Amino acid sequence: MTLIDVHLTPDYVARALREDVRAGLSATPKWLPPKWFYDARGSELFEEITRLPEYYPTRAEREILRARAGEIAAITKAHTLVELGSGSSEKTRLLLDGLRDRGTLTSFVPLDVSESALREASDAINVDYPTIDVRGVVGDFTAHLDKLPGEPPRIVAFLGGTIGNLIPAEREAFYTSIRDVLEAGEWLLLGTDLVKDPATLVAAYDDAAGVTAEFNKNVLRVINRQLGADFDVDAFEHVAIWDADNEWIEMHLRATRAMQVLIPEIHLEVTFDEGEELSTEISAKFHRSGVEAELDKAGFTPAAWWTDSEARFALSLWQAV
Ligand code: AVJ
Repeated sequence: MTLIDVHLTPDYVARALREDVRAGLSATPKWLPPKWFYDARGSELFEEITRLPEYYPTRAEREILRARAGEIAAITKAHTLVELGSGSSEKTRLLLDGLRDRGTLTSFVPLDVSESALREASDAINVDYPTIDVRGVVGDFTAHLDKLPGEPPRIVAFLGGTIGNLIPAEREAFYTSIRDVLEAGEWLLLGTDLVKDPATLVAAYDDAAGVTAEFNKNVLRVINRQLGADFDVDAFEHVAIWDADNEWIEMHLRATRAMQVLIPEIHLEVTFDEGEELSTEISAKFHRSGVEAELDKAGFTPAAWWTDSEARFALSLWQAV
């Protein structure tokens, strides 16, 4: 059976976009949050990124899940799998298979901001796992964690390295809010990309085929369509830099000429200087010690730390204290 709980109405989403665009494009330096990359085209571009030769995180995480899903099931004996954010369904299935084969799993709770993506994914899982209840939640994982259904013990999976898109203060709030919805003894499964040589990292975010550049520019297309803006998308170029102090990749869009942009739906006029950069995403990379310190502070104890064969990416399992 498939049930979808909607905690995010189109109205709420539209208001959030307006507020983010107003705040980010009025600031110095300008910024936009990465969640607005993901309209239908942005989601397709991201899927394309995961298949690029330079973009190793998806393959590395899949390798770990394939090797460890059975162990995850054996350790947690979870009855409910909660997945935050739209993981690729293939990775989800590796986990579902491990838990189902162990015989403990009764429900799957995917949470995503996109209702259409969630319905599609939930229906597909429902067909292939007929004995499991699918309870989708349309929500924002930074705001709607209090409404997680499912029989305990639950395992909350946050994969893909998406945690890296949050700044440290947001990560702390996020880990704490997950800890707050769990009972002691329940589980968090976390995917984190690891610090490595800058050339490998930069290539992963500035691929030769230009797919990441298109993905980055897509946020301007989203604002043009949703808010009636007149961004000349081709007047911006994609920039990906490694910030060695913060240990994160930063993606920017650089204005190649001075310009004015009108955003009628929020009555905003924005001026760009030639060469001005708009920050669109950070993607933090981690060391084991840093992840452990942050999770410990939020009330989790470590249960396992696994990496792929090249130690590029880590999947770690934590238990709520
Ligand atoms: C969605 C977090 C997995 O930060 O690596 C990929 C998004 N941005 N290329 C990441 C992304 C540019 C991605 N995650």
